[in-house]
Amino acid sequence: MSTLDLGVLISGRGSNLLSILHAIGAERLDARVRLVLSNRADAGGLVHAKARGVHTAVLSHRDYASREAYDEALVATLREAGVTWVVLAGFMRIVTPVFLNAFPGRVINIHPSLLPAFPGVHSQAQALQYGVKIAGCTVHFVDSGTDTGPIISQTAVSVLDDDTEETLSARILSAEHTLLPRVLQWIAQGRVTLVPADENRRARVVIHQEE
Ligand code: GRF
Repeated sequence: MSTLDLGVLISGRGSNLLSILHAIGAERLDARVRLVLSNRADAGGLVHAKARGVHTAVLSHRDYASREAYDEALVATLREAGVTWVVLAGFMRIVTPVFLNAFPGRVINIHPSLLPAFPGVHSQAQALQYGVKIAGCTVHFVDSGTDTGPIISQTAVSVLDDDTEETLSARILSAEHTLLPRVLQWIAQGRVTLVPADENRRARVVIHQEE
């Protein structure tokens, strides 16, 4: 068991960040949030972090000439804060190999669909438009694609006949708030192993039983 030194990257309201902070407070998650980093100064999650005494930083992608230059600045800021694991929690930027190589196998993302269905943006609306009966959320390792990295865990929720994008999003979000801290705790417990690809299967994740 090791205490995770987390950096949480956000662009918006930060409810998943809050779920992490609540789990730490309730001793369900053995982690410290070393830094909350946003690309937007108006991200609501920054307010939650500051109110709880968590360090925050804002780096605007608009101040950098390239994605790589921006990612170098993100990496330097996270390293300076002592971050060793990175959680993308509503961070609306694609990270480049510059970022991923700085935290190899240590960047995870939460996505509001059952991947590989409905990657990208507006996943809940995509699910409704398609007419699926089961939706959900996914926590996965980040690779250089959009929502394509190895899946760590997923939670399914029902799609109801009278669902709107708002009601379905709320049901999925509630599942996200349970799933993300749980997966982080598995990581802290050393129970999450990334198995490399072989000729039959892509890289995948195995979760070991609790000892
Ligand atoms: C969540 O739905 C998450 O799955 C997606 O962005 C949203 C962030 O919400 N990646 P919040 O900022 O954590 O409330």
